[in-house]
Amino acid sequence: MSTRHLIDLDSISSDQLKDILDLAKVIMKHPQYFCDSGHGKIMATLFYEPSTRTQMSFQSAMLKLGGKLVGFDNPDSSSVSKGESLRDTVRVVSNYADLIVIRHPCEGAAQAASTFSRCNVINAGDGGHLHPTQTLTDLFTLINTKGTLSNLTIGICGDLKNGRTVHSLIKSLVRYKNNKFVFISTPQLNVPDYLKQIVINAGCEYSESISLSDSISKIDVLYMTRIQRERFESDEDYKNQKGVFVLDKEKMKKAKYGLKILHPLPRVDEIDYEVDDDSRAVYFDQTEYGMYARMALILYMLENSEKKLDARPESNSDKCCCNPRCITNHEHYLPNLYIKVDGRTVCEYCDHTQPICAE
Ligand code: CP
Repeated sequence: MSTRHLIDLDSISSDQLKDILDLAKVIMKHPQYFCDSGHGKIMATLFYEPSTRTQMSFQSAMLKLGGKLVGFDNPDSSSVSKGESLRDTVRVVSNYADLIVIRHPCEGAAQAASTFSRCNVINAGDGGHLHPTQTLTDLFTLINTKGTLSNLTIGICGDLKNGRTVHSLIKSLVRYKNNKFVFISTPQLNVPDYLKQIVINAGCEYSESISLSDSISKIDVLYMTRIQRERFESDEDYKNQKGVFVLDKEKMKKAKYGLKILHPLPRVDEIDYEVDDDSRAVYFDQTEYGMYARMALILYMLENSEKKLDARPESNSDKCCCNPRCITNHEHYLPNLYIKVDGRTVCEYCDHTQPICAE
């Protein structure tokens, strides 16, 4: 994976991550010092999928840095509606902009886009895969509310299968010392195996639970998530999962005094409104922390930018990825790229393990 673009937080070192989070803290304290830092720069926001927080916090962040914006929040209002490919859209927009922020329903789309862009690309969410800037937001929220990213027992509750924020968060929190995880979900929406392997490889402990009520007293951080309706095959499948986990005042009575409740939002029904007034609920503060974290990231990416097209990789297999949501199954010109991870063959775009017969 490239280090020029931010597709996954894996591509930046722990020191770089710390630098960005430290910068976010300085920006939050002294925003006036940074109001011209992005002067003369243009950021493009290409949102192929709906968004409130990610899109607007990126836009607010760039405006607060004195930069300018172009882009679309609905591909139907762009030439995508006329059949323009991702590669052509990105190639063109990267001639106008200094930085591209892209959200797309297909897994691996940001990775694919980065190979056709002359400017740096930030992944603002690729299907059910990853959402690294939400994780920056989450880490910055934990620093400001818990005062640490280590020695935490983190409960993650809801749709752990399709929740891209969950996937990026787990991959980041395993970097810090002595963190433990409690995965709270139905068996159908449990964390993908590849992520459990990442937790094990990092030497972190995890347990699984089907009860929020039974787990809440043990945890320091509760990361609630909605059931991702848009990722289900049918509405019936979604309805079977909806409403299983609801955080309410009764459950909060069992929680630690120092618990912090995060949620990437939007919320549907998984946290009662009555919990919002509990001082342990920090999910609305989280949205503001996200803007400062993105201001820091934008400055970091602009500093490390150089307009150029990288050499594009060639296919290393003639087999298509087995994941129907992978970008390679929607934009067919993309090369098939696989790597070996722990003996498995994994798609480089979407991280899906390929069936042995397809290797
Ligand atoms: N947390 C998050 O990604 O929210 P949006 O979908 O509104 O951007």
